[in-house]
Amino acid sequence: MDRPFNILGLESSCDDTAAAVVRMGLDGNAQILSSSVYGQEEFHAEFGGVVPEIAARAHTEKIDICTAEALDIANCRLTDMTAIAVTAGPGLAGGVLSGVMFAKGIAAGTGLPLIGVNHLAGHALTPRLTDGVDYPFLMLLVSGGHCQFLLVEDCDDFTRVGGTIDDAPGEAFDKAARLLGLGQPGGPAIEREAKSGDPKKFSLPRPLLDRDGCDMSFSGLKTALLRARDGVVAKKGGLTLRDRANLCAGFQEAVMDVLAEKTRRALDVANAKILAVAGGVAANMKIRLVLEAAAGDCGATFLAPPLELCTDNAAMIAHAGAELYIKGYRDDMTLAARPRWPLDRKSPALTGSGKKGAKS
Ligand code: KG4
Ligand code: ZN
Repeated sequence: MDRPFNILGLESSCDDTAAAVVRMGLDGNAQILSSSVYGQEEFHAEFGGVVPEIAARAHTEKIDICTAEALDIANCRLTDMTAIAVTAGPGLAGGVLSGVMFAKGIAAGTGLPLIGVNHLAGHALTPRLTDGVDYPFLMLLVSGGHCQFLLVEDCDDFTRVGGTIDDAPGEAFDKAARLLGLGQPGGPAIEREAKSGDPKKFSLPRPLLDRDGCDMSFSGLKTALLRARDGVVAKKGGLTLRDRANLCAGFQEAVMDVLAEKTRRALDVANAKILAVAGGVAANMKIRLVLEAAAGDCGATFLAPPLELCTDNAAMIAHAGAELYIKGYRDDMTLAARPRWPLDRKSPALTGSGKKGAKS
């Protein structure tokens, strides 16, 4: 590129409708001019999870408003854009389709080039947007929908070093919170309760730590928590607040231990000198601290983007799209929504898609 350019990003793969404008500089450093996110929590709350049909409809209703807002905040018009980047998967089919069709409409109306972005690439490249890090680096993506280690060597070169074989950690936090009568999202609720609990009161498993490799499992941990809870209820006829806090602390510590040890292994396998995290679970202060310590143990630098860029947003899609645009990637009207789209074609994810999309 011979001059800086603006790119519009669109995201609608799960339960956040988002649009953003990012300006890519000649030095490869990007600047976020605007980032609008419309969450859908209230539409799904009564169902205890994301309802795909409701999500798709809400995206369709909000994406134009969200885009107009992002352009307005960036003080730009569509004619100031050089390209449009849109999440083309993985995620809920109806949601991804809403974004892709909307982006195609803009591309057809303006003649702007269209670039389909893998949502996971958006997350994985975020440390380049926020901290300008060079390739290669190791990314740990931990959210309600995803859990994997990715060695990132270029904007189109990802190697999956390991990941969950069942639930994502955020999903496990959410299910654990439900089992303990806490509200959703479960992660922040458990973190809060755990502060006054003793993590050693209940002995919960550290799944797959006894096995080589960087794969993880969190669904057994949730079942172990259920058994521990039922054991207390059978003995005492109910849970005291202290029992609940102890269960939360024990659960959180089990997740921390698994993530820390698998991170050390993944840094070693990938021979990486930078560990970056993304995803809602990275908001957990205790988890952040153990990941930072694990990186330190391996002589690696730890990077955690600001929370609003750890969770779903369109700035990461615009930025990934800008990197792909520079490399010459272009899509056209045949761009398809891909509910499943493993980033690493050499070692694709082991798990399927759950309530919040592809987990690994
Ligand atoms: O990345 P995110 O906002 O959305 C997707 O999963 O796409 O992540 C949300 C997940 C939820 O499962 C939530 O319980 C978890 O991140 N989470 C946390 C914390 N804050 C959010 N988990 C543990 N501790 C937290 N403080
Ligand atoms: Zn995401």
